[in-house]
Amino acid sequence: MDPLTAPDFYKDGAVRIGDAEYQTKLFTIRGLLHIIRNQKPFASRLEKAIQTYRGHDEFRLGYLVLEYLDDEPDDAETLILVLSDPSKGDAIVSTCRLSYSLAKKSGYISLVYTSEEFRGKGICQHTIGHLLETTKHGLDHYHLLVDKPNAAAIKCYEKNGFVITRDGEHNTHRMELDVSKAGGAGKRKTRKTRRRR
Ligand SMILES: CC(C)(COP(=O)(O)OP(=O)(O)OC[C@H]1O[C@@H](n2cnc3c(N)ncnc32)[C@H](O)[C@@H]1OP(=O)(O)O)[C@@H](O)C(=O)NCCC(=O)NCCS
Repeated sequence: MDPLTAPDFYKDGAVRIGDAEYQTKLFTIRGLLHIIRNQKPFASRLEKAIQTYRGHDEFRLGYLVLEYLDDEPDDAETLILVLSDPSKGDAIVSTCRLSYSLAKKSGYISLVYTSEEFRGKGICQHTIGHLLETTKHGLDHYHLLVDKPNAAAIKCYEKNGFVITRDGEHNTHRMELDVSKAGGAGKRKTRKTRRRR
């Protein structure tokens, strides 16, 4: 099954980063609904992790469904990648989200978060790389917005080939990766992106 085209894509896997082995879940919005309905303890941990990331105790996983419905153009789809640590009660390790249009061959990365105790182990670098590897057969171009002072995130994106192309709103950099041309992003005309964490 191709994660880019199967609306109910959901896949469990495993990945080794450094000395540790983590569980991976890659899923679409319909896959998220499956998790909310059928994997309640995991869903609850994921909800708490995103509450921490967004600094918003009232955040509910269902809001990701609303964001998909409200913010995305009709031809857009969403994939979410979550890592967890089975040796620590399946604690949530990291999240990232790709919103993409197959018609435009373009994707927007957001919800990039590594839980504090897992930082500095190359997890962000790995998860962004994994998301790119899994989807670049169907997409040519990726972009994201990052706060200018966020050195850790910028480094993680640069290590995956992103380059800063211009200023975004609210003291952010727009970073882009063009996988269709070796040599990078920048010259391509792209639509303005509203900030989504
Ligand atoms: C940004 C974030 C996702 C990075 O996660 P991580 O898993 O710790 O990142 P990695 O371990 O893959 O680190 C990537 C690189 O950044 C470097 N780095 C980490 N912290 C850094 C810092 N404070 N300043 C500069 N570089 C830093 C790492 O050393 C690594 O480079 P290296 O391989 O050359 O050593 C994590 O800090 C986080 O969740 N922050 C809060 C949420 C956030 O800012 N999300 C990004 C929104 S755009």
